[in-house]
Amino acid sequence: DGNARYRIAIVTVSDKGSRGERKDESGPAIREMVGALGDVVSYQVVPDDLDVLKETLVNLSDRGRVDLIFTTGGTGLSPRDNTPEATLAVIEREVPGLAEAMRMESMKKTNRAMLSRAVAGVRHRTLIVNLPGSVKAVKECLGVIMPVLPHGLEILT
Ligand code: MTE
Repeated sequence: DGNARYRIAIVTVSDKGSRGERKDESGPAIREMVGALGDVVSYQVVPDDLDVLKETLVNLSDRGRVDLIFTTGGTGLSPRDNTPEATLAVIEREVPGLAEAMRMESMKKTNRAMLSRAVAGVRHRTLIVNLPGSVKAVKECLGVIMPVLPHGLEILT
């Protein structure tokens, strides 16, 4: 483990962010944390639109040949939160343990962690992981799964 440099994409999902009405701080927080794992080859801020999201994930996986996609935001209960649905629509296999572990560990920090519907799964050779939207949530959730990602990616890619 640990020697490969993976191709990583960050997708910030935010209507306001995509319109330039809010500065994205969660994407950069992910970038800062994943340096040991690989190179961020793509960073996008997209609206909470189901079709745009599906297209974005498919593009990165099939044409961008990205090993790992992190989304941030859009996992909650608001009517515009579509990230889990978009992810489920494009993956072939779920990796439920990643989402379970993030929620379980996050519950120790805030019981609101149970409001995230984040999922993780595999499309072809790409692992897609949903993270909640806030910088705090990104740091907490990514901290939980980072230690197992090298082994997961080694098996997958
Ligand atoms: N997970 C962690 N680790 N830390 C948090 O602060 N916030 C929760 C939850 N998961 C949180 C968390 C809250 S308040 C919400 S509403 C959901 O994630 C969904 O967030 P999202 O809609 O921005 O994806």
